[in-house]
Amino acid sequence: MVKLVKATLTDIPLMQKMVEQEVEDGVILKRNEDEVATNIRSYVLAKINDELVGYSALHIHSIRLAEIRSLIVSHKHRGKKIGKKIVEFTLKEAKELGVKEEVLVLTYLPDFFKRMNFIEIAKETIPEHKIWTDCIKCIHFPICNEVSLVYKLV
Ligand SMILES: CC(C)(COP(=O)(O)OP(=O)(O)OC[C@H]1O[C@@H](n2cnc3c(N)ncnc32)[C@H](O)[C@@H]1OP(=O)(O)O)[C@@H](O)C(=O)NCCC(=O)NCCS
Repeated sequence: MVKLVKATLTDIPLMQKMVEQEVEDGVILKRNEDEVATNIRSYVLAKINDELVGYSALHIHSIRLAEIRSLIVSHKHRGKKIGKKIVEFTLKEAKELGVKEEVLVLTYLPDFFKRMNFIEIAKETIPEHKIWTDCIKCIHFPICNEVSLVYKLV
């Protein structure tokens, strides 16, 4: 049975280990331990019997816009709807926090998100500070094939 729980600082080593391959492949942006610690309240973890099996972060950009970051499910547990549960949790959290308009995601897996009613948007419309704080750190910057999608909260 999958449980969704908020992360604590003690989860960081296993969280970092889980994304190693995807970070190396450039599918997930590298975030160092301190950056994860600073944003620890953003993260939700999926656990089965206390084993970490996936996680994601909901990053708040503004009163109108949040973003799903670093979504990962361990290889062993993919295809069991855990990713979907994590996304649903983050969308619910965005609503509960009062985010007014949209939840953004940048991804190489647009179809996964389209199944959950995200809609594709032109990359030019994503906020500029996202580009200058995050994209600039990415190994694929500036030639990026990620797709931008948003979930409309209203
Ligand atoms: C993307 C990822 C989180 C999906 O997790 P998962 O637990 O295997 O996915 P789920 O089992 O919850 O799948 C939910 C739905 O999406 C579909 N789906 C799963 N992976 C998919 C993919 N790669 N492409 C398209 N659809 C996909 C499933 O078929 C399922 O559809 P259904 O509800 O109609 O049956 C996982 O593959 C992963 O960690 N990938 C590597 C990291 C990554 O790319 N993260 C995205 C960064 S934004």
